[in-house]
Amino acid sequence: MDKLQILITGGTGYIGSHTAVELIGAGYDVVLVDNLSNSSLKAVQGIRKITGIEVPFVQVNCTDNEQLGNVFRQWQFDAVIHFAAFKAVGESVAEPLKYYRNNIDSLLTVLEQMQATGIHNIVFSSSATVYGQPDALPVTETSPRKPATSPYGATKQICEDILRDTAASNNLKAIALRYFNPIGAHPSALIGEEPHGVPGNLVPFIAQVAAGQRSELSIFGDDYPTPDGTAQRDYIDIVDLARAHVCAVDRILKDTQKPYYEIFNIGTGRPVSVLELVHTFERMNNVEVPYLIAPRRTGDVTALWADPSLAARELGWHAERSLDQSLQSAWLWEQQRTVPIT
Ligand code: UD1
Repeated sequence: MDKLQILITGGTGYIGSHTAVELIGAGYDVVLVDNLSNSSLKAVQGIRKITGIEVPFVQVNCTDNEQLGNVFRQWQFDAVIHFAAFKAVGESVAEPLKYYRNNIDSLLTVLEQMQATGIHNIVFSSSATVYGQPDALPVTETSPRKPATSPYGATKQICEDILRDTAASNNLKAIALRYFNPIGAHPSALIGEEPHGVPGNLVPFIAQVAAGQRSELSIFGDDYPTPDGTAQRDYIDIVDLARAHVCAVDRILKDTQKPYYEIFNIGTGRPVSVLELVHTFERMNNVEVPYLIAPRRTGDVTALWADPSLAARELGWHAERSLDQSLQSAWLWEQQRTVPIT
């Protein structure tokens, strides 16, 4: 029997590339599309090195019906995993129209192409940002969504609603995965996160400080009502996160899904403070990360972590890699990523 074929939009990005590796490992064929606006062809080489498979890649803008249509005509997909989106929270505040146009248009275009070619299965990359600052922790999938703190967050909420309504109106089967804070890299250090410019996220910034590319880390606030005063998050290893997509695709394709639209939290269930993360990075990698305490960052929440028990029960998924392992892989990647892959 032919292998099942999965289209990955945003396939050369941080989460897309790791998901490609895990899907191939699970026996799927994958096709990657990406406009390379925030990633590079190095990811395709990395995937080949890890899996031994030359994965088809097409440079496509997912908001372009014609370009994307060609891809849908060239292959017969069994399911789509839609990652392609802009994700910089600060930039979304400065350029909201860019975010609304790109993130919503790309999902609509993908769904229209799926409808036109009779494909009914989609996994969508949502975010824990849809919860805002919740009243109670940990958050479950039924915790209320609070008003988004950025246009980026608003696009994730709107995309979830588009999926819910489309699934309700026809035979689309959709799973939205709400990621907490993805960190780390593939243990081979052949793929990982490639931040452009100054990293906005904590772990890439720490890695660049440890590497001596930046003098110190600014910790945004030490006066939060948390045990050590710094904000708490749920840091999920990128390989664990990628595996969650395999579980979601399996669930849809094996028809074990319950309602036609489902949501799962993808996190560890363990809150980690900024200071705890910095000290763990130092200890695991035997490096120093100089830091200073800076004012709170606008839009940051005090604490956010997952109740991941629904994913455990229904998807058979749980986080396996420890924070220690994730931070070791992040450091290995930081050291290797300037070395060209041959
Ligand atoms: C943000 C997004 C989230 C997205 C995630 C991963 C929001 C509100 N947050 O999460 O949707 O999924 O990125 O891309 O939309 N910190 C510092 N110094 C730094 C950088 C960060 O102290 O230089 C702190 C932050 O204040 C925060 C923690 O580290 O408490 C994590 O920050 P970050 O990695 O940016 O992720 P989030 O803001 O939680």
